[in-house]
Amino acid sequence: MSSLTLRLMLSTVVVAAFGSTSPAPSLREAGDRAGVLLGTAVRPSQLSELAYAKTLAREFNLVEPEDAMKWWVVRANADTFDFRQGDEVVHFAQAHGMKVRGHCLVWGRDNPAWLTQGQFTPTRFSKLLHEHITSVMKHYAGQVFAWDVVNEAFDENGNVRDSLWYNQPGVGLAGKGTAYIEQAFRWAHEADPQALLFYHEAEGEGLNRKSDTIYSRVKDFKTRHVPIDGVGLQLHISNLNFDIDPVATNIAHLAALGVQVHITELDVSLPLDARGELIHPDDLTRQAEIYRGIVRACLQTPVCTAIQTWGFTDKYSWIGSHSHHAHGQALLFDRSYQPKQSYRAFLHELSTGRSRLQQGTKP
Ligand code: XIL
Repeated sequence: MSSLTLRLMLSTVVVAAFGSTSPAPSLREAGDRAGVLLGTAVRPSQLSELAYAKTLAREFNLVEPEDAMKWWVVRANADTFDFRQGDEVVHFAQAHGMKVRGHCLVWGRDNPAWLTQGQFTPTRFSKLLHEHITSVMKHYAGQVFAWDVVNEAFDENGNVRDSLWYNQPGVGLAGKGTAYIEQAFRWAHEADPQALLFYHEAEGEGLNRKSDTIYSRVKDFKTRHVPIDGVGLQLHISNLNFDIDPVATNIAHLAALGVQVHITELDVSLPLDARGELIHPDDLTRQAEIYRGIVRACLQTPVCTAIQTWGFTDKYSWIGSHSHHAHGQALLFDRSYQPKQSYRAFLHELSTGRSRLQQGTKP
């Protein structure tokens, strides 16, 4: 027997084994029925791992490169654009009938040192940003259906955050409030008029000063024909007493402005001990209820058109390094790609939520 035949037989056995344990329906099938995209952040380096790729393709119909389309990857040096990592994600998505969200074109973080430490005039900086938005969006035109154009531009008081794009040195619009944000959306619309353009933010998911600001700015943008199509709510949750009702209210408020809402980076991280074990095993139940509640909050408003988690297996999650390993186990699948209680709650709500709402019965 040739080694190729053996490899093919082995992979068939592996696929059959995965098939036999896979829950039915998958998230993406339930999402199709509920009319909502089911997405996750992905890292191209993991796509060659069979269990990773199988689970991803089976459960999701939307992917977003976790880092692969950020400035520090695409513009590692000033002279060239490097689309290889982002292209890997796009090719995987195309091979498996998935959509791609692009993330992100303008952010004060995750930028290369040549950009953050370079000495640029605002005019040169403006040219660099225009060139970046144009080149990246044209490269992915027709492949990336929605972009996070501007990420995390407001602070917790609702003020425009200091950042290299606003005022350090800025693109020439320092002191002019959201003018630089508007400029980025206009450039993005010129580069790819078909793409949906999102403002994307952390910790403005419920009702607070930041979400008030986002609401009033988006309202103002719509009035003045700034080309914005949606608001992305990150939803990194670590507070297990997280109150979900204000998120549902916020989504409904944004919907009334005529924009779509995507939940973009959902994860619910749990406290861990020094060995990486759960401190309170019951937290898994609370985690599942939070996931269920977020699905419910999205399904209540038809313009909430995508729910995306920030990774899908506890094997790979940004929470570990971000929390210095004090938190983790934040996602829907465990480290061995087995669905968790959170997965079952998520899937159940997805499968029953929209039809229950359509029938007018209370959740
Ligand atoms: C994080 C990634 O998950 C990490 O891999 C990276 O090292 C840092 O950025 N909000 C965002 C995301 O918009 O881009 C961040 O992603 C998480 C917080």
